[in-house]
Amino acid sequence: MTKLDKKKARAVGVSNHTVKHLEALIKATGQTPEVNQVEIHARLQDDELLEFAKKNNIHLTGYSSFGNNMIGEPLLFTEPVVEQIAADEGCTPAQLLLAWVNSRGCSTIPKSVSANRIKANFEVAEVSENALKKLTEFGKSKPARFNIPLTANKPRWNIDIFKTEAEKPAKHQVIV
Ligand SMILES: NC(=O)c1ccc[n+]([C@@H]2O[C@H](COP(=O)([O-])OP(=O)(O)OC[C@H]3O[C@@H](n4cnc5c(N)ncnc54)[C@H](OP(=O)(O)O)[C@@H]3O)[C@@H](O)[C@H]2O)c1
Repeated sequence: MTKLDKKKARAVGVSNHTVKHLEALIKATGQTPEVNQVEIHARLQDDELLEFAKKNNIHLTGYSSFGNNMIGEPLLFTEPVVEQIAADEGCTPAQLLLAWVNSRGCSTIPKSVSANRIKANFEVAEVSENALKKLTEFGKSKPARFNIPLTANKPRWNIDIFKTEAEKPAKHQVIV
């Protein structure tokens, strides 16, 4: 990918890379990806990855920033705590959740099939440090990773990618 015409492939990124995966990639190729697209929301803070990315100048793009999932868990904007913090700030719960991701220096790619929501998701809200802190605390009290190929994907992918408890039964590992 890095050998492609720079007019067409100006920046090469990866997805779902943990710190270990990034370290292995950089060591093996001498190349540092520009971007890593990973699951980011208040319930999945991954400070270790954020710190590594900042140190190595890798931009993090967050997916599932509303906590979207295929396992029937409530999306984050339906949580009463999130609704309350957003009401106190005078923004929507969705705006609060996106502002939280942006406050960490990361971008987000919220998905919607509704034109109004797509437009609304571009409307960035000013959110106070206090509100962001409250959301951080809430997320820490209920940590969750939703996009686990072994448990969330259909068909299941029998591989341990993130080294979570849920992935322990997986037959395959990522080689690093
Ligand atoms: N790289 C990867 O491995 C990976 C993994 C997962 C996802 N992704 C990508 O990341 C993007 C987003 O992630 P995601 O789809 O998991 O989840 P998401 O953006 O966290 O959540 C999408 C859900 O939120 C709803 N929604 C969107 N905007 C809203 C708003 N303003 N108010 C209320 N509800 C709202 C949508 O419903 P409506 O559509 O009905 O509005 C949909 O149910 C997608 O493009 C996806 O392809 C990448």
